[in-house]
Amino acid sequence: MNPVTRAVPCGIGHYLPERVVENAEFEASLDTSDEWIRTRTGIERRHFAAPSETTTDLALAAARRALEDGGFGPDDIDAIVLATSTPTSTFPSTATQVQAGLGMRRGFAFDVQAVCAGFIFGMASAHAMIVSGQARRVMVIGAETFSRILDWSDRATCVLFGDGAGALILEAQEGTGGPEDRGILGIDLHSDGTYRGLLYVDGGVSSTQTAGFLRMQGPELFKHAVVKLAETADAALARAGLESGAVDWVVPHQANLRIIRSTAQKLGVPMERVVVTVQDHGNTSAASIPLAMSVARADGRIRKGQLVLAEGIGGGLAWGAVALRW
Ligand code: UT7
Repeated sequence: MNPVTRAVPCGIGHYLPERVVENAEFEASLDTSDEWIRTRTGIERRHFAAPSETTTDLALAAARRALEDGGFGPDDIDAIVLATSTPTSTFPSTATQVQAGLGMRRGFAFDVQAVCAGFIFGMASAHAMIVSGQARRVMVIGAETFSRILDWSDRATCVLFGDGAGALILEAQEGTGGPEDRGILGIDLHSDGTYRGLLYVDGGVSSTQTAGFLRMQGPELFKHAVVKLAETADAALARAGLESGAVDWVVPHQANLRIIRSTAQKLGVPMERVVVTVQDHGNTSAASIPLAMSVARADGRIRKGQLVLAEGIGGGLAWGAVALRW
């Protein structure tokens, strides 16, 4: 086969704010229970950013750890792609603020917005820049402070989300073009804006001049999630020339343990090969996949040469999957 350029993982890190909120804390202010949250979602606790902590701060901490993990300095990075729905400011992008915070004076940085699928779209964007020769080394960050857009009187949503950030560095390396190569091997992306009402924020710069609060039709979204995630994960694998039996680790978006289980079952992957962090992080939207990847890399589960399948869905609806060999 002819040599091809692959986008290969070569550094990862994550950051979680210090404050941990256990399910039981919500019992004081809402008609809810640890038991309900745990059994319906798998969530046990989540982290919330301190009042002074912004999405930039979380992203910067994760970015520094990814650089350290890869043995790189800030000027070794050509581009930062940052996925978030809770940017520090309307503009400039959170990515450029991270760039400044790292002391990176070259290259370029920008944000992508695909809500909970943001990290998948961010990886796809980095991959496109790497294979086209526009950048050699790209840092993809997922960072969120969803605690800032929660309606604390809505028990159906405010118990579900958390704050955090994860960062992955992808580097151009030569491969053979076959499925045994390291790097991103298959990508599948979708969106359908007619599903807006299932998950959205009821505010915005151009509409209300406020950030607004998150609104969700949970049960309806649940049904779409299981079907669409299994389909997109299969499609990403097919593009890589692989089947689900070859997958070492599924790293799903961490919204609900029941969605994660049903999707794994549809894919035919046993739960022993699925990375689950929802119990400790809740749903951190664009940060959930890189957080889970980083945790599993740090504890030795994800190893060099293993096939990782990441999949996510969220507001838009937007959904997709990436198959990559570590
Ligand atoms: O990240 C983007 C992707 N997100 C998702 O994919 C989320 C998808 N949806 C879900 O994960 C689930 O639908 C939820 C976790 C949001 C809800 O779970 P559910 O099993 O679908 O519950 P439900 O909304 O059907 O509610 C069942 C009952 C209702 O009471 P009634 O009408 O049966 O009396 C709710 O009012 O549970 C009630 N309920 C609660 N009870 C205690 C809803 N939230 C709570 C709560 N505590 N926090």
